[in-house]
This record gives sequence, C-alpha cells and structure tokens, in this order.
Amino acid sequence: MTGGRPYYLTTPIYYVNDAPHIGHAYTTVACDALARFMRLDGRRVRFLTGTDEHGQKVEKSARAAGMDPQSFCDRVSQSFREIRTLLNISNDDFIRTTDPRHIRGVQALWEELQRRDQIYLGRFAGWYSVRDEAFYEESELVGGKAPTGADVEWVEEENYFFRLSAWQDRLLQFYDKNPDFIAPQARRNEVVSFVRGGLRDLSVSRTSFSWGVPVPGDPKHVVYVWLDALANYITALGYPETESGDYATFWPADLHMVGKDIIRFHCVYWPAFLMAAELAPPKRVFAHGWWTVEGQKMSKSLGNFIPPQKLVSQYGVDAVRYFMLRELPFGSDGDFSHRAMVGRINSDLANDFGNLAQRVLSFINKNAGAQVPQPGAYAEPDRLLLQMASSLLPSVRPCFERQQFHHALELIWGVIAEANRYVDAQAPWALRKTDPARMATVLYVLVEVVRHVAILVQPVVPEAAAKLLDQLAVPAERRGFSALDERLVPGTALPKPTGVFPRYVEAAETS
Ligand code: MSP
Repeated sequence: MTGGRPYYLTTPIYYVNDAPHIGHAYTTVACDALARFMRLDGRRVRFLTGTDEHGQKVEKSARAAGMDPQSFCDRVSQSFREIRTLLNISNDDFIRTTDPRHIRGVQALWEELQRRDQIYLGRFAGWYSVRDEAFYEESELVGGKAPTGADVEWVEEENYFFRLSAWQDRLLQFYDKNPDFIAPQARRNEVVSFVRGGLRDLSVSRTSFSWGVPVPGDPKHVVYVWLDALANYITALGYPETESGDYATFWPADLHMVGKDIIRFHCVYWPAFLMAAELAPPKRVFAHGWWTVEGQKMSKSLGNFIPPQKLVSQYGVDAVRYFMLRELPFGSDGDFSHRAMVGRINSDLANDFGNLAQRVLSFINKNAGAQVPQPGAYAEPDRLLLQMASSLLPSVRPCFERQQFHHALELIWGVIAEANRYVDAQAPWALRKTDPARMATVLYVLVEVVRHVAILVQPVVPEAAAKLLDQLAVPAERRGFSALDERLVPGTALPKPTGVFPRYVEAAETS
C-alpha cells in the first residue's frame, strides 16, 4: 500500500547465539498482528525485524560450534528468516547487523555523537555479563551474579564512554511529556525510578574481542553491541540519510515492541543516544511479558525450549497465533501449556467461531440454494446483532493501538457468542418449512456477521480468515476495514463450505 498515514513498528533483533524459540515467535507474532491490522485500516506500514549478530556472546557461540562468526551468523540468521513463512509473518524488511548498510549507519551515528562531544575515551573497570551483554554496578549484583542470574566477569579496559549522565534530566522531562512512551505502566515506573536513581556514563566500546563494528578512526575498538543493535531501527530506514527516503517517511517509529528484559536499553539508552545525535526518539516502547513452558522457565539445562516448527506442526499456524494473543493480557507473564492450547483451539476456535461459520454456511449450501440469501425487513434481534457487529471496529481499534490484543479478541468473541445465541433462538432450520422468507433474513444477518468477524480476525488468524472470506465469496480487494460497511450481495453464489477450525484430537496413546 502506498497511501495512508505511515506506521513504523519493529521487533527486537534476535541474537543469533541460539535457535528461534517461542519467546522470539511471540514478539514477532504480536508485531505481525499489529502490522496487518494497521494495513487493513489503511495505514502505510513498515514492519521491521532482523538479527543481532555482533558481540562477545555470538563470537563465543560461533567458536563453540567450530565456525567462523560470519558463517555461523549466516546459518542462524537464516533460521530466523524462516519464521516468516512458518508463522505467516508479513515483515517488510529484515535487517542483519552484519549488513553493510547497517555497519555504515552505525559508524555514521558514532561519528555524529563524537562530533557533538557525546563520546570520550576513558578507562572502564567494572562487572560485565556476556549473556546479557550488559554492564552492572557492584550494588546491582545479587550473590555475585547479575540481577538476571547471569554470570558476570570483572572487566578493565580502555573504552569509549557515552555521556549518559548528562541526559538524566532530559530523559525524565521526556517521559513526563510523553506519558505513552513506555507501556505498560508498571514498566514505566520501573524505568523512571531507575533514571531518577542517577545515571552513569556508559561504556560504548570494547577492545577485548573483535566481532563487531570497528570504531571509526580507532579500529582496535568495536562498538558496544547494544549501541550497534539499537541503531538497526534507523539504519534500516537508510540513516544517515535523514532528509529524504524511508527515514523521512517513517521515523520516529510508532512502536518498538520488546520483551520486559530489554526495556532499559530501549527506554533509557536508546532515546539518550538519539537525543544526543539530535534525532527524534521513538513514540512508544511496549514491553510484553515472558512465557514459561508447562510451568517452568525455559532453559538449556531443562531442554524445554520449544522450537516454533514444533508448535506449528502440532497445532497449526493460526491456532498458535491466536493462542499467543488471546491467552494472556498482553504485557503480563504467562504459561504455555498443551492443555491451555487445546482448550483455546477446541472451545474458542472450533466450537465458538468455527461452528458458527460452519453451521450457517452448510445450512445455506444445503437448504438455501448455495447463495447469499435475500433478506426481508429486519426485526429487532436482527438489528441488534448487526449493530453489534458494525460497532466492533471502533471498539477494537483502540485495543490494537494500545497493544491490548487479548481485549480486542474478547470483544470479537463477544459478538460470536451473541451470534451463536441468535442462531439458537431464531432456529432457521425450523423456519425452513414455516416461514422461508424469515429464514432468508436470519441467514443473511448471520452471513453478514460472519463476514464482519472474518474481516476483523484477519490480523490474528490470516489463513483461516482468508478461507472463510473465500467461502463468503468476498473478493480480495473487499477485505480491508473500509469494506466493513458494505453488504454481501444477495444472490451471489457461495462455494461449498469446508471447516476452517478443526478440533484438536489427542493422538491415541501408543505403547
Ligand atoms: N538482541 C537483543 C535485542 C536487541 S534489539 C535492538 C535480544 N535478543 S534476544 O534474542 O535475546 O531476545 C529477543 C526477544 O525475545 C526479547 O524481546 C525477549 O524478551 C524475547 N524473549 C526471550 N525469551 C522469552 C520468553 N521466554 N518469553 C517471551 N519472550 C521472550 O535481547
């Protein structure tokens, strides 16, 4: 789409030290649903994802795999790229921090910061965690480890420093003026109190390893991996070119979606780097929660990282997407269990939505000439249900704008439940003999409601929604939100329906 107000959203770029798992899939699916929603709502969307390939952690993993870092990154980055097909992701761009366009952009940002006297050479002595790629104060350590539980090592080396301490007041003013910059509220409080507690200058280069972007003019240093990584959000838009092209169209980003563990980097360091380079900070950072699996933290030692391939082959792509966005209030932590997944598939998808569509469409196919019925005058219950369906978009839109996916789905499923009650109350099968004209009206109301719901769920379950819209003979160009106000044309032939949400049946135990 070329017209429309721009909307730029990003996932974090994923470390290539590990294969993709459901944690990564979660952030990407949430962004994808939002990107699809905005496109259907007429926005000009740029949706970026990618991989974070530099730093000591990746260098170590490459060595452990017996590979040179570049070949190692090429291999793992590819597995993140494959998520696109696997989970039906509609990203517009995929950036790698080893891309020449990115390296050029990071060096330009460095030079800009240096020109503005925001970087100076000093000596670092302190604690560093390779797993978190983060520095910690002595006072932050818990039992000799990072607050995240990661091991730390004592590091002393010549480093460049960014004058973060000088930005404390301006950051606090920025948060104050932009109450929506950090969501949810609890994360906002966490960031504000961290900044109020005082900021120290930040080491932004390393000399003890070489897998990174060389510091311009002093190549024995590589740029700190977080300064390198955060810059992806602008280098993908063509930074340092800011006057024209994608940067001019899409920056500042409407949303950086991140997990709660990396909020400090996105809400403190990133806006400080940008302001220091006289660039606009992003409009919003949303931090989602973390998944446990069957009640346990995911960890290498437990071997319970679920690869997205496994989920999709077991439950299907739409079911996985729906579950992720419906199961938890977005922002909270939650548990990924087989039982909960099957519950959602069989009750919300198969029973509530699938059954509604299936019984209406097969009834029309068998008993109403396999075409969109001709409605007569509407009765009160018809008007009420149609009204509920057409008021969905105005109530669902703010939920998406505020990343309240679970709430948007609750509202849509509220209409599905109402439609199921309406089928039972109006009993079209009984009207077939007694009042065929009334039967046609009832069926028309129902296909209209199914059309509304199918259009609105496209961002979350794109495959099933497309199949359903095919079965309603809705042409591809009439599937955007602006088409919601239109009506199905009576007499349009409808193809033979097939179920779009199969029930999940446990495989029989084999011994
Ligand atoms: N490379 C950095 C991000 C740089 S962005 C400029 C990074 N990468 S990561 O691969 O470790 O994590 C990426 C995202 O996955 C984070 O947002 C993180 O919160 C998310 N998740 C990792 N494990 C997760 C769960 N168990 N549950 C939900 N999300 C999780 O951090």
